[in-house]
Amino acid sequence: MNETVKNILKRQTIRAYKPEQITDEELEILSQAAVKAPSGRNGQPCHLRFIQNHDYLEGLNKDFKDVVGWDTPAYTRWDVNPVYQTAPTLAIIFAENESYMDSGIMCENIVIAAESLGLGTCIIASIGALFNDEKSLKWKRLFDIPENYKFQIAIAIGYPDEKPEQKPRFDDRVKVIR
Ligand SMILES: Cc1cc2nc3c(=O)[nH]c(=O)nc-3n(C[C@H](O)[C@H](O)[C@H](O)COP(=O)(O)O)c2cc1C
Repeated sequence: MNETVKNILKRQTIRAYKPEQITDEELEILSQAAVKAPSGRNGQPCHLRFIQNHDYLEGLNKDFKDVVGWDTPAYTRWDVNPVYQTAPTLAIIFAENESYMDSGIMCENIVIAAESLGLGTCIIASIGALFNDEKSLKWKRLFDIPENYKFQIAIAIGYPDEKPEQKPRFDDRVKVIR
């Protein structure tokens, strides 16, 4: 099995990270992997921001909890498990229109490239609740994203501080029809 396939098969979501920031070289590789992602008619609708400022990550987490509720059952571990999953880097993809397929492909390019570098990732859709709210406008301005651009997906990125079991998959989802 080649290294690319090995990385795809061993990737798993990481929700606990070491505090050390990823290196600029790693960040550059992830940027290149993102930019090289294919898009429909090469329209390149995705705008990517890597957020590496801890105060911004904490601020995003606070505004997110203010929108969804601090006691919402799914988020009761907010103190130990913020929406950015304690990762030092949060990638956020925006697009002018809903371009979920293009964004998903860019997202997976980043995730697999990160895996190949020994970095952990967690794809995060839930933070989208914040970006549907007026509270997100200040963040869009700060991140140089036009107000009308839509949140697509986010990815927590950092050095893993856990090694969870791989999650099972249904074995009837793929069929070969000959
Ligand atoms: C589109 C998408 C959205 C996700 N959103 C979240 C999220 O908001 N919060 C979270 O903790 N995990 C999120 N995940 C991670 C999934 O829960 C995880 O991929 C799934 O449980 C399978 O586990 P694995 O990635 O370790 O194989 C998301 C994954 C995908 C693909």
